Amino acid sequence: MVDQKSQGIDVRVLATEHPADGILTLTLGADDGLDLPNWTPGAHIELVLPSGLVRQYSLCGSPRDSTYTVSVLREPAGRGGSAEIHDTIATASKIRLRGPRNHFPFVPSSTYLFIAGGIGITPLLSMIQAAEESRAAWTLVYGGRSRSSMAFLDQLQSYPPGRVVLVPEDEQGRLELPAVLAAATTDTQIYCCGPGGLLDAVEARCAERNLSDRLHIERFAAPTILRRSLACDESFDVRLEQSGVTLNVSSDQSILDALEDADIEADYSCTEGFCGSCEVRVLAGRPDHRDSVATPEQHDSESTMMICVGRSKSPMLVLDL
Ligand code: FES
Repeated sequence: MVDQKSQGIDVRVLATEHPADGILTLTLGADDGLDLPNWTPGAHIELVLPSGLVRQYSLCGSPRDSTYTVSVLREPAGRGGSAEIHDTIATASKIRLRGPRNHFPFVPSSTYLFIAGGIGITPLLSMIQAAEESRAAWTLVYGGRSRSSMAFLDQLQSYPPGRVVLVPEDEQGRLELPAVLAAATTDTQIYCCGPGGLLDAVEARCAERNLSDRLHIERFAAPTILRRSLACDESFDVRLEQSGVTLNVSSDQSILDALEDADIEADYSCTEGFCGSCEVRVLAGRPDHRDSVATPEQHDSESTMMICVGRSKSPMLVLDL
């Protein structure tokens, strides 16, 4: 899951478009004319904005494209990244990107149920294309505030009738999850992306129906349950294998905080455990995973952790930093 930490590559904005209310789509091409790195459905890139903010966006074109396409929803109540892109990035702008990375991999199956809420449609577009190309049975249920806020409708409506179910809230109300999930069988892989409330509800409903093992979600914000204080936690030590440094992580700071205090650089973005930017390989020790990027089992199998929220169950962790 970890890719090489890098300074990234410079790309040029080749085109911009507004596919729906409040959404800006950027087409990006390598500044030196070389091919961009390959990617797989569900992958995202990080954009390093002129202000220094780093933001993740799902790739929403085709992996066969020679360019990357991302769509950015302006979030007035956000932390400034989307507003900066909308207000300052235009055709011909130069921007740095890192990745792609994929924390939302598309698994082979004969049947898929895709559930999208608003801008959560973006990582699902390339999955839908892959499902269609593999001749799998698939359905997309796509909810949004109104039709004018829902991007990519023309593209989605070009699929055979019945595949795509649009649910604009101002016309039909919210997604009826029991009905949406009723069609899922033991063969169905369920992919869901959208607002936190939708994801929480889908997770709960899938747990009730014993569907959790085939549910795949991608969050754009931390789930409420993870927004907790570190104050009750124990301190521990972290040895950084590459730097040869050992740090103490106190009860009220994260590993990332301890690195910053020691002037040791590490990649990060959300600091809330949902974006995956700060993923680091664990060489020894027992990490206490607290992110929503992947399950603890997935992290254990890959020997990685998110250092913005993850802690340690052992007195010492050894990290590949
Ligand atoms: S910075 Fe986003 S998961 Fe750690």
